[in-house]
Amino acid sequence: MVVANRKMNGDIPSNQLFLEKLVAETQLHQQADYVVCMPHPYLYQAQSILEHTHIHWGGQNMSRYQSGAHTGSVSPPMLKEFGCKYVIIGHSERRMHGHDTDLSTGERFEVAVKSGLIPIFCMGETLEEYEDGATDIVTIRQLNAVIHEIGVQGLAGGILAYEPVWAIGTGKAATPEHAQNVLGFLRGHIEILDAELAQNIRILYGGSVNSLNAKQLFDMPDIDGALVGTASLNPEEFIAICLAASNAS
Ligand code: PGA
Repeated sequence: MVVANRKMNGDIPSNQLFLEKLVAETQLHQQADYVVCMPHPYLYQAQSILEHTHIHWGGQNMSRYQSGAHTGSVSPPMLKEFGCKYVIIGHSERRMHGHDTDLSTGERFEVAVKSGLIPIFCMGETLEEYEDGATDIVTIRQLNAVIHEIGVQGLAGGILAYEPVWAIGTGKAATPEHAQNVLGFLRGHIEILDAELAQNIRILYGGSVNSLNAKQLFDMPDIDGALVGTASLNPEEFIAICLAASNAS
């Protein structure tokens, strides 16, 4: 699975070029799933172009409330109305700048599932935590906040993504071995609670994935795909990552 996290980038003409090219050039390579998470104002455009194609789309965040006095927020039914299948929850940029907490991300994971959306739940440690050897402690704490909210079986309704903060947008991806170790550890933690779920749940890696490192990452046994930021802004780069995923499947 390859997910584009376009963040706060793009405009109507460049989105159109990107989405149409993505549809055309992955048409014969559908062994992987492709998702494009757009800024909310462009969801209608994504729906218009991607409806009836093999590409899915989603939001980059959502409110835990269904409606009401929440200026600037977007509700789950609004995402659904524009055809979203997925929504990113707990991205580190939201945790750092949007005041997302472990508790609120856990709650929104549950609300997403109950609203018929598939949350793509992000976890990851900062550089300082990485240097302190706290990767496992931090990612488990973030994951446990979701399990606490929705129960271990509830995880089955979502997708997990390990995104070390120090690798996001820095051009310094985690090595495939490091990413594999963490994903293996997370899967092992789930396995203790539910062995079947551990086998089936998708866990992605995110953080400076590009066309050069994608294959090595996808060759790792526990890496089921990628969440891609910067490289999703370049259509050729992103399509090359999609094809690497399709070939690895
Ligand atoms: P990046 O971003 O690919 O630019 O590192 C990944 C993400 O933030 O999801």
